[in-house]
Amino acid sequence: MVSTDKIPQPTMPTCETPRLLSGQKALVTGAASGIGRAAAISPAEAGADVVVNYVTGEEAAAKAVGEIETRGVRGLSIRADVSKEDEVQAMFARMCEEFGTIDILVNNAGIQKDNTFSEMTLDEWNAVIGVNLTGQFLCAREAVREFTRRGVVPEISCSAGKIISMSSVHDSIPWAGHVNYAASKGGVMLMYKSIAQELAPHRIRVNAIAPGAVRTPINTEAWESPEAYEKLMELVPYRRIGEPRDVGQAVVWLASDQSDYLVGTTLYVDGGMMLYPGFATGG
Ligand code: BGC
Repeated sequence: MVSTDKIPQPTMPTCETPRLLSGQKALVTGAASGIGRAAAISPAEAGADVVVNYVTGEEAAAKAVGEIETRGVRGLSIRADVSKEDEVQAMFARMCEEFGTIDILVNNAGIQKDNTFSEMTLDEWNAVIGVNLTGQFLCAREAVREFTRRGVVPEISCSAGKIISMSSVHDSIPWAGHVNYAASKGGVMLMYKSIAQELAPHRIRVNAIAPGAVRTPINTEAWESPEAYEKLMELVPYRRIGEPRDVGQAVVWLASDQSDYLVGTTLYVDGGMMLYPGFATGG
């Protein structure tokens, strides 16, 4: 057995993002912080104009837009609660007014409201399902309406539109104390795959990214102290936490024509968390 005690914690690779998304218009929900922020900035580096959706954190959203614009593309922040149909429709109308259309939707907005199962309130359940599952439905539906209205524009992309559904390793790994969250991500999986199946003939590609533990505000407790970090690493064979940019780079590729034959697939960006790490030394 190789000892892993001395494995250095690597710094993030600083490879340049190729301009794979030039001329495309992207909307990233929940993009003021965390994974969403990286999922907005990496496509901007790849040449896309990007709408930063947020519900709270107006200043952080404006900052993300500032970062996007330093990449020589357009950025725009739009406030909308993705669980509300009228707000979602107004956001898409505004985006189409300002940017002309949408080519890429990153259905990222997500929340956690954790509790033991017997203590979980209906409000905690509804809030998580409302944002994580209904929010993805509402945004995907508006995007699909615009994709089908516009169709393929070959100079821009060989597909009529791309949707990337931000899922989680908890689309498959049960998670005690987080039943609402795991249920929302399990739901997201069959929702996006069903949309993918229905819309592939229209050249609309729907895929998902399922991150593992990524260093964001949603899971601070899991990585902030050295003890928590060490414990977390027991679940990560690659022995480092994910950084938001790990997911941002995957978004670029999945939204680009380089992945044109990927339809209804989940990319697990998780350092091996899905590999049943407990079995490395047991079973
Ligand atoms: C959750 C994080 C968690 C990770 C791995 C993500 O979907 O939002 O809180 O650290 O899964 O368990």
